[in-house]
Amino acid sequence: MLDAIRNVNWPDNAAGNGVSREETREVLLRRPYWTAPGPDGTTLVYGLTDAGRHLLVSVVAEGEDVLVVGARDMKESWDASYTGAAPPPWDIGRPQPAFVRLADEGRLRGRVLDAGCGTGEHTLLAASRGADATGMDLSPTAIRRAREKAAERGVSARFEIADALELPRRAVVFDTVIDSAVLHVLDAEDRAKYVAGIASVLRPGGVCHLICFSDRQPGSWGPRRFRADELHAAFGDGWAIDSLTADKFHLNPFHGVHEAHAWLATITRK
Ligand SMILES: C[S@@+](CC[C@H](N)C(=O)[O-])C[C@H]1O[C@@H](n2cnc3c(N)ncnc32)[C@H](O)[C@@H]1O
Repeated sequence: MLDAIRNVNWPDNAAGNGVSREETREVLLRRPYWTAPGPDGTTLVYGLTDAGRHLLVSVVAEGEDVLVVGARDMKESWDASYTGAAPPPWDIGRPQPAFVRLADEGRLRGRVLDAGCGTGEHTLLAASRGADATGMDLSPTAIRRAREKAAERGVSARFEIADALELPRRAVVFDTVIDSAVLHVLDAEDRAKYVAGIASVLRPGGVCHLICFSDRQPGSWGPRRFRADELHAAFGDGWAIDSLTADKFHLNPFHGVHEAHAWLATITRK
């Protein structure tokens, strides 16, 4: 469907929710990255604006025409990505291989926080290797699924519906933070807040293991692509980047691919 769109029609009563028509057109015509069936015959289109805003646009599609039903910032809509008929591209039903390697090396240890844990694969991986693991995510559906998986697998881990931009309010201190595909969904303002929040909950000497989309990935579909220097800039004062290596994300197949170039970073809180 994404390749066929030529005409975007936005009726007066469509819900804009602070998203402009120009941004909606950008997403639908230039930067859509995946679609899922929505309610009442609609299609949900996820995409990135040129300014780096992740949007969720609900449309009724007919050939080359789409009728916009509503548009919103993903910040308010993450739950919708977990309620469709098919799982989103990143929700592969197992941990990313990069994190399995880290676990095999014994590096997911101590008190572990999986920020933006989705349906909990990395929290459960850490917990199954003996860590005291907590997963947190904005999406109630993802957290419900994570708790179900923990029960099904007999693994003990905590899962909370919570905002990773509010980490400084927490009293608990962690030894390890996991970020799988979260930093790259945040805009510049939220990214700075998020990194400061991780710093506030990691003990000095604690480590953040992060995997994000890389500028080495060809094409323009998908989330924000990071350059190595942007990661160095995001983790500046108060951090030491111990390693930054080219790696791969495994994905549920979309855009004809089942993996994408990523950066894997290990970053110590000074
Ligand atoms: C691309 S998904 C990755 C999910 C998971 N880490 C994984 O690897 O499967 C990004 C996740 O971040 C969550 N998220 C986005 N903003 C968040 C925030 N401010 N606080 C907590 N979770 C957030 C979304 O709900 C979504 O589950």
